[in-house]
Amino acid sequence: MEQQSDKVLQMKKAAGKTAVDNLVKNGMKLGLGTGSTAIHAIRRVGELLAQGMLRDISAFATSFQAEIECEKTGIPYYPLSSRELSGCLDLTIDGADEVDPQNFLIKGGGGAMLIEKITAYNSGLYAIIVDESKIVGCTDGSSSLGTGFPVPVEVVPVARITVTKALIDLGATVTLREGIRKAGPVITEHGNLILDIRFTFPVDPAKMEHEINHIPGVVENGFFTRKHPVIYVAHSDGTIEIRQ
Ligand code: 5RP
Repeated sequence: MEQQSDKVLQMKKAAGKTAVDNLVKNGMKLGLGTGSTAIHAIRRVGELLAQGMLRDISAFATSFQAEIECEKTGIPYYPLSSRELSGCLDLTIDGADEVDPQNFLIKGGGGAMLIEKITAYNSGLYAIIVDESKIVGCTDGSSSLGTGFPVPVEVVPVARITVTKALIDLGATVTLREGIRKAGPVITEHGNLILDIRFTFPVDPAKMEHEINHIPGVVENGFFTRKHPVIYVAHSDGTIEIRQ
């Protein structure tokens, strides 16, 4: 995980704690997100379980990172298709890379957007926790998603070139995500590659989410527009804003 300042760490912790304290109830089936913000929500759930303030939680972890944190903090977690969860979640709490004025998101900075989207779109309630730096948009109130933080596109390896060409035809610049301290590309938890794309012009995130997923070989992309989240935004003055 990247180095972060104390201020940013405090904002991430505060967003995670507030969302969990406000939304998580006894007996819930929870989707637990991935990243340096979502981890604080997982830790808070673990803390409340350990203190006996929360009971009968069953969770689904969206990545190895989230699974390991569940193990460390004693949160019982199960496969999404297990008898315990049967594909239904009451609430998912996750982070995001960018949030636009309509609460559309970019996710997948940590490469987990495939499972994060399955989880989000099959959850009763969807909560996103971010620090204020993740809130973006043009001055006229329109979306800037796709023009700043790169949108990840997970592709099956055989389609690397064909999908790259199709994304260029949509007007994107395309970069194969490379590993850090590992030579060659990042391989996702599902054995796929990630193409990070960016546009130099404004795009309609809802239309793009749909269009990119229609390219043969694309598994999923990081535009999240079809599930309306409640957003917990932590500000540097210590306040938490709740955006519906
Ligand atoms: C992982 C994600 C993360 O939620 C997103 O990248 C935000 O991460 P962080 O809280 O570390 O900034 O989508 O795939």
